[in-house]
Amino acid sequence: MEKPITAIVCGAGQRGRDAYGRYAESNKDKIQIIGVAEPNPIKRNNFMKIHKIPENRSYNLWKDILAEDKFADAAIITTQDNMHTQPALLAMEQGYDVLLEKPMANKLDECVQLVNKAQETGKRLQICHVLRYTDFYSTIYDTIQSGKLGKVINIECKENVSYFHYSHSYIRGNWRNSEISSPMILAKCCHDLDLLYWMVGVPPKKISSFGNLLYYKKENAPEGAPKRCLDVCPYADKCIFYAPFIYIDNTPLFRVGLDCDIKIIKFFAWLAIKHRTTVKILSKIIPPLKDAVEWHGWPVSVITDDLTYEGKMKALKEGPYGRCVYHCDNNVVDHQTVNIEFENGVTANLTVHGHSAFEGRSIRIDGTKATLIGEFLFSGEQIWLYDKLSGKKEKIFEGHLQLTGHGGGDTGLMNAFIDLMKRNISKPLTDAKASLESHIMAFAAEKSRLEGKIINMAEYRPEGLYL
Ligand SMILES: NC(=O)c1ccc[n+]([C@@H]2O[C@H](COP(=O)([O-])OP(=O)(O)OC[C@H]3O[C@@H](n4cnc5c(N)ncnc54)[C@H](O)[C@@H]3O)[C@@H](O)[C@H]2O)c1
Repeated sequence: MEKPITAIVCGAGQRGRDAYGRYAESNKDKIQIIGVAEPNPIKRNNFMKIHKIPENRSYNLWKDILAEDKFADAAIITTQDNMHTQPALLAMEQGYDVLLEKPMANKLDECVQLVNKAQETGKRLQICHVLRYTDFYSTIYDTIQSGKLGKVINIECKENVSYFHYSHSYIRGNWRNSEISSPMILAKCCHDLDLLYWMVGVPPKKISSFGNLLYYKKENAPEGAPKRCLDVCPYADKCIFYAPFIYIDNTPLFRVGLDCDIKIIKFFAWLAIKHRTTVKILSKIIPPLKDAVEWHGWPVSVITDDLTYEGKMKALKEGPYGRCVYHCDNNVVDHQTVNIEFENGVTANLTVHGHSAFEGRSIRIDGTKATLIGEFLFSGEQIWLYDKLSGKKEKIFEGHLQLTGHGGGDTGLMNAFIDLMKRNISKPLTDAKASLESHIMAFAAEKSRLEGKIINMAEYRPEGLYL
């Protein structure tokens, strides 16, 4: 049997622990995590325990682990957006192949520096554009390649971020303020821009964008709303952003279950919303129900390391996730549109916003022979093809409820990275240079939005960087 590859993880937070750490837990024959750098002692110790990492291979900071001589095959870098460039550069210099979370960096010159470093050192640098590895988007890509759509003329994509996800990440959480993190179009949509570039197959020629922060700000707070939900908010039972509704009752997550097509999940989700006490009693004898009632996954796992009721309440009383959504220090847009004309004349439009009742992306592609319509939702996935000549409507893909893992993308990405490391495949599905294109598109869109200009990509693109 082939030996598993070995890896170190810089940043054992939500992605390091729940996405790639969890993959390693259930794929021990493929990858072993043998070192970690994480400043939070609770997170670090938990991670060490799960992956059986010895004391002498656990470190506080990425600088410490990367100061050691290389002791694993790969470095998985899952620190926050503003802490990607330096660890990734140093890891490649130290001889590691690197799996780096998106966005690769939050400044364009740093993205270029990363691609150049990969070329100079000959190290693999893979950016976690996980959606390319989902069955949903690969079906769309294959359908385009098959010619069933004819020549693609226009693509319309929507990223409908639900009210609870948007408030969690972009008002109260890590990506709320572009000064400390990234603009929304980079943080959330470098995936979508990457998919567009992949599907169209050529770089963009012109980009324009509009958007702003329209709603989640002080002047829209209901009269008398306190700064924190638990400071006896008079709107507690009417507000969809009331923190205990999201993080203690988990109601928005149960509503996703209510929307899915798996009857048993639908039934228990309904029960959990309507008859909470019954579900709590049943959960003592039905373990999967206990997991749902005491949900410890995203987004709850982000608010605290103490997932008891008391721990969660303390986090909501004192931490950022208990703040009133109208009284935060957020500045990222809550809606933005991007228009793109590609070099082959195909046009595309991408809209992202944080006002959706349910979570998910949608896509429509019009070609000369057929129209494709797809929905990639938390509650399920579908792709339909409408053929013009035959008049037939055909469902070409169906996927079911997946609350985590990006519709199978996290697993697909890890399988592909490991195959690449083991040389089981010679050519990766994507590489850092291709990922850079989506980042260039995001920075250009942000420039257009802020300066009110159409961006001519030939002028905007860093010199010499043409794919
Ligand atoms: N691929 C995707 O679809 C996807 C999805 C979500 C997030 N992300 C990206 O993944 C990255 C991580 O996001 P997250 O939600 O896991 O964040 P997180 O804040 O939960 O995790 C980051 C971890 O890095 C640790 N850290 C801080 N300073 C450090 C240092 N000097 N050395 C080592 N570790 C340090 C933090 O303590 C924290 O545990 C972000 O860039 C985010 O944008 C990607």
